[in-house]
Amino acid sequence: MTKACKLAAGNWKMNGLRADLAEARALASGLASPSCGVLLCPPATLISAMAESLAGSVVMVGGQDCAAQASGAHTGDISAQMLADSGARHVILGHSERRADHGESSELVAAKAQAAHDAGLVAIICLGETEAERDAGQTLDVVLGQLAASLPQGAVAANTVIAYEPVWAIGTGRTPTLAQIAEVHDALRAKLPDAAISLLYGGSVKPGNAAEIFAIANVDGALVGGASLKAADFGAIIAALDAA
Ligand code: 13P
Repeated sequence: MTKACKLAAGNWKMNGLRADLAEARALASGLASPSCGVLLCPPATLISAMAESLAGSVVMVGGQDCAAQASGAHTGDISAQMLADSGARHVILGHSERRADHGESSELVAAKAQAAHDAGLVAIICLGETEAERDAGQTLDVVLGQLAASLPQGAVAANTVIAYEPVWAIGTGRTPTLAQIAEVHDALRAKLPDAAISLLYGGSVKPGNAAEIFAIANVDGALVGGASLKAADFGAIIAALDAA
């Protein structure tokens, strides 16, 4: 069986102005040649400038969302092809903030992932339970249900990454136990259409907890929010993944 690739992905969310590209450059210049993939997903306004500023480095650039449609009368939306044209190689889809703030369903996420694949982008599809769902013992049902409905036809390791992000762990400083992360990742791996698809954990990953999370068998990396904004913090997380 082909082993999944390791990936450290940073999600800047709605943070970052041109001056913050200095952090991305500092990150890139501090990396030797990591064995894992390294990705930064800035807001759409910075993709092009970040891609230019990181050209020739190991750090890849990605988007945080794309439209399901290829083009047309969709004011304010950005197509997958536009992201690719700006220098993006990946796109985060179905983040819990988009599922909550914009009412995105798993079916819409699957359509967006299909559009991403059609444009040659790797889709990073996010899944995760709310705290109420975990308390009700529904975690695996929710996450596996989201997986089944969010994956487009033809999802393979070359075009798809899955990120497990418990909603209650995002931006809260709280994380599941290592056993809880392992349980979900084991269940996800068993249901993947291609066992070599990378499985990332996301939710309050920091330099201080990264190594123990990356030691879990079916964790292939992380999707990092707050700690990806600073080169020193994200660099330490990348070093932990590299050493795992
Ligand atoms: P934090 O690392 O800030 O908890 O955010 C996680 C996340 O939502 C990444 O997509």
